[in-house]
Amino acid sequence: MARLSVQLGPLVLRNPVMSGSGTYGHGREMALMCPPRHLGAWVSKTVTLEPRPGNPMPRMAETEAGLLNSIGLENRGLEYYLSEILPSMRDLDTLVVTNIGAECVEDFGTLAARLDGEAAVDALEVNLSCPNVGGGRLPFSTDARMAAAAIGRVRAATKKPLFAKLSPNVSDIASIACAVEAAGADGITAVNTLLGMKVDWRSRRPALATVQGGYSGTGIKPVALRQAWMCCKAVKIPVIGCGGIASADDALEFMVVGCRAVQVGTSNFSDPSAIGNLAQAIEHALDQACIADLEQWIGSFDNPRALAGA
Ligand code: FUM
Repeated sequence: MARLSVQLGPLVLRNPVMSGSGTYGHGREMALMCPPRHLGAWVSKTVTLEPRPGNPMPRMAETEAGLLNSIGLENRGLEYYLSEILPSMRDLDTLVVTNIGAECVEDFGTLAARLDGEAAVDALEVNLSCPNVGGGRLPFSTDARMAAAAIGRVRAATKKPLFAKLSPNVSDIASIACAVEAAGADGITAVNTLLGMKVDWRSRRPALATVQGGYSGTGIKPVALRQAWMCCKAVKIPVIGCGGIASADDALEFMVVGCRAVQVGTSNFSDPSAIGNLAQAIEHALDQACIADLEQWIGSFDNPRALAGA
């Protein structure tokens, strides 16, 4: 049987399957749907310093090939996460990644410092790319200096492994990836949602109260795959692929181009138990292809144009 464990910066994951932030609660409450040991890591919903009510309803809308959301980082804040959520995560049989979000550099640093001493937290994922706050301006993921400032502040505040979650809503993701690598990130999650919108022409109303939101799911996979590949080529730190991944084939497409792990997000809303079977499906697919060790095979993408120097 194929070996599935992967090195992700300083972490070793038993398999490359992670949950995508915001699609699987904080983790523990999903244990009935998916035994934690079936995942490489569990990623929390974004935690902010203060509680946030989120954006006005409606804030989710289905589309032909995915989902629009404008949740607005609803969560109960850091103190609640520390006292009510983390204690129940200590004995979870998987790695726990806490996703943090903020609207200023200082708050990123404060969050990281407060989480640094928490044994239940194996790593931080820094959400630089939520499209649903600040009117979708995405200041930390469209400006390399701002991205580096946030990651630099988090790096200074914690020794925990840290991953920077980037936005696809940029023309040159490689420059942002390089900036966060130089600022001390141990890895990159590529990518968050695409900016999108939906309208009802009869009522002449938008589907989301905020009009625009983040688009995720099957429809974004080709865009996400390209952006993840651009990151893989640009940096030495590991890249976690994210965007429209639901099946073993999807996961292996991201991994052959260089991603060392994958996150499953929107498909959790249609079948929250499916993620628990994904590692086994990847193992089966690798066995069928006579690939014995996933780690050795990652990034073995055959790219004729690159070989030709194009
Ligand atoms: O609006 C939200 O809570 C979404 C967050 C994100 O995409 O990072």
